[in-house]
Amino acid sequence: MAKIVLAYSGGLDTSVAIHWFRKKHNLDIIAYCADLGQNADLPAARRRAVSAGAEKVVVKDLRDTFVKDYVWPALKANAVYENGYPLNTAVGRPLIAKGLVDAALECGCEYVAHGCTGKGNDQVRFEATVAALAPQLKVIAPLREWEFKTREEEIDYALANGIDVPVKRDKPYSIDVNLWGASIECGELEDPWREPPRDTHLLTCAPEQAPAKPVEVEIAFAEGVPVKLNGKAMNGVKLIGELNAIAGAHAVGRIDMIENRTVGIKSREVYEAPAAVVLLTAHRILEEMTLSREVNRQKAALSQLYADLIYTGKWFTDLREALDAFIAVTQKYVTGEVRLRLHKGSCTVVGRRSPYSLYDKKLATYGEGDAFDHRAAAGFLTIYNLDIRAQGARRKRYEAKGGK
Ligand code: ARG
Repeated sequence: MAKIVLAYSGGLDTSVAIHWFRKKHNLDIIAYCADLGQNADLPAARRRAVSAGAEKVVVKDLRDTFVKDYVWPALKANAVYENGYPLNTAVGRPLIAKGLVDAALECGCEYVAHGCTGKGNDQVRFEATVAALAPQLKVIAPLREWEFKTREEEIDYALANGIDVPVKRDKPYSIDVNLWGASIECGELEDPWREPPRDTHLLTCAPEQAPAKPVEVEIAFAEGVPVKLNGKAMNGVKLIGELNAIAGAHAVGRIDMIENRTVGIKSREVYEAPAAVVLLTAHRILEEMTLSREVNRQKAALSQLYADLIYTGKWFTDLREALDAFIAVTQKYVTGEVRLRLHKGSCTVVGRRSPYSLYDKKLATYGEGDAFDHRAAAGFLTIYNLDIRAQGARRKRYEAKGGK
C-alpha cells in the first residue's frame, strides 16, 4: 500500500482526513504532529489519530527551532501583517511543512498531505514550502476535494464513524495555537459586526476582568533577540511562555481585524498574541533608540515586505535570505532593556536604555549641560533654506504679474 504523510493537528479536519484517506484512497497514513507550543494534549491527539486509522503517529517537539529560527527572525524584522496580525500561524507553517517533508523523505513516501482548505492561506504556505524543499513530492489536500461542505457535516461524519473529535457542535471555531499566539476563525466570528463571544478567547482575559493594578515588565535584548524577562535570563520558549501568561492576564494582545487573504478574500480574524504584542512593541522601542534615522526608515519599509513574505508562504526563498542578511546588520546594536507597563489591555513603554544608544542627552536637553552649538544652527539654516528661498522669491515674481 502506498504511504502518505499527513500534517496532523489533532483537530477536526485532519482527524476526519485520516479516516477519509483510508476509505477513499486506500493509503497508509503516517500522521505527523509538530509541537510548536500549542499546549495540545499530544498523547490524546496520538490516540485520536490511531482511532481514526493512522498507521503511525510521529510527534516532534519543534518549539526551540520554532522560536530560534522562525519567531526571532520575524521579531527582528518587526513583521506584522496589515498593521495588526503578528503572523503567529503564518510563521509556523514553513516549519511544520519542513518537518512534513523530512518525515516523508525519511519513510520514502511519495505523497504528503495537509488539512488546509482551498480558500485559505495555509495551503499556500504548505505547498510553497514543499515546492522549495522537495519539489518531487506530490501534495494531496483532502479538504479541497472531499464531499463535506460545512464543518457541521464533518462533525456528523466524525460522530458517525466513531472519531472522537475535540469540537462541539455549539462551539464550532477553527483555532490554531502556537507559542507566538492563537488564531480564531469561524462560527459567529464570520459576522464582522458581532463582538467575539466570551468563549472565543484562550490566552487573554477581557480588559474589564483584568487586575485594576498594572504590572511592569522588563525585557532585555541582545542583538535584537529577547534574552531576559524581568532580569532573569531564560531561553526563548520559556520567555515567551511566561510573558504570554503575564500579558494575557492583563488583557494584552487581543486583535480583531479584517485582513486580505492571499486568494483575494477578506476575512474577519480574531488573534490573541500577548507575548508577541509586548515583544514587538519593546523591540521597536529599542530600535528607535539604537538605529540611525535612515536605517530605521528603510527597515520599516522592509518589514512590510517581510510580513507579506511570511503571510504568502515565501519563507524558503532567496528574498527572505537577502532580507535576513540586511536585518542581521541592523540588529548588531539592538541590545539593551525596555520597560513596559501592562494595564487592562494596554502595553505602554515606560523606559528604555542601551549601551549602543544614539540618543545623547547632552545634545537633546533643554536644561543644564546643553552641548549643542546653537550658533551653528544659523549657518545650517542658511544653506538648508537655499532652495526654499528661491521658490519663495519666484512665487513673489509670479504674483506680481497677476498669477494666482
Ligand atoms: N488568517 C490567519 C492566517 O492566514 C490565520 C489562519 C488560521 N488557520 C487556522 N487553521 N485556523 O495566517
